[in-house]
Amino acid sequence: MTEHTITIAGRDDTVTAAADQTMLDAMLRAGVWMPNSCNQGTCGTCKLKVLCGEVDHRDSPLSTLTDQDRADGYTLTCQAVATSDVTVEAADGGTDAVHHPLIDFTAIVTRVDDVAQDTRIVYLRPDREFEFSAGQSVSLHVPGAPGERRQYSIASLPTDPEIELHIRREAGGVASDQWANGTIRVGESVELSGPLGDFVYDPSDTDGGLLLLGGGTGIAPLKGIARAALADNPEREVIVYHGVRTCAYLYDQQFWADLAAAHPNFTFRPAVSREHHEGCMGYVSDRLLEDLSTCRGMTGYLCGSDRFVDGVAAAAKRRRLAPRRTFRERFTPARTRDLVAG
Ligand code: FES
Repeated sequence: MTEHTITIAGRDDTVTAAADQTMLDAMLRAGVWMPNSCNQGTCGTCKLKVLCGEVDHRDSPLSTLTDQDRADGYTLTCQAVATSDVTVEAADGGTDAVHHPLIDFTAIVTRVDDVAQDTRIVYLRPDREFEFSAGQSVSLHVPGAPGERRQYSIASLPTDPEIELHIRREAGGVASDQWANGTIRVGESVELSGPLGDFVYDPSDTDGGLLLLGGGTGIAPLKGIARAALADNPEREVIVYHGVRTCAYLYDQQFWADLAAAHPNFTFRPAVSREHHEGCMGYVSDRLLEDLSTCRGMTGYLCGSDRFVDGVAAAAKRRRLAPRRTFRERFTPARTRDLVAG
């Protein structure tokens, strides 16, 4: 089968891609960082300019890669394959976090906990060492649905024996409903690929406090980030808000209470938007504005729906959270039916 090389302009990185391998997949497997988030062609994070050579955009949707983008030489590296040797521009951004190569592996389902309304935590024990950074995601090859993959944020740390995924049931979803709330069995073997995503705790960013804002199961990657940050510096200021609609969607309360008991500068604040809950009522954005006079000098990690992320980002910005220190992870509707991430 024909292989092609992908060269990153201005860097020494050159990787080889198989004929049917997406450019992003080839680069991540070679340990070469490229921005990515949804890995299904819908977020645009992986859009890069091809400086020379030919690519096939394959399933890239016009809503993400417009005709003008194509005319200007851009491609979605999570969808496109190289059809000749190519050179792409180096991506902007990225943190100093360690980037671990993408791998495929098998894991065994060890536990399934119902933790809140329509919310399950699934624990998976990998069959090999799986390195990732706190906050990243893994792609699940949905059992019983050939070709279907769903991306979930990892709530655990690489040092944990199991991968922890928080899965919110979406009616009819092939992963969240038919598998995670249907056919899933303890002892079952599942196929995974990872790590993925740029929502990454950066251990070199040690200045100031951390502001972690999660909506619904968007709290999942923040659990790992909070643990990683407090393991690095038990005295660091870490403030977590968990936004939910009703109390029935709150979970992991004891985990957060234990973290608060163990760390003097850690604070957990639930925010319930549509139901009276003593001391916790309201949207995260409103609570944040009421509680904090400034976020200057902090680093923010925001995860949830588009609406949640946009709302809390605006509030945090009003409190002087610097845009360059604001990291966002958005739930991305699957190109079929399910929800991915978180
Ligand atoms: S469009 Fe490629 S990572 Fe989202």
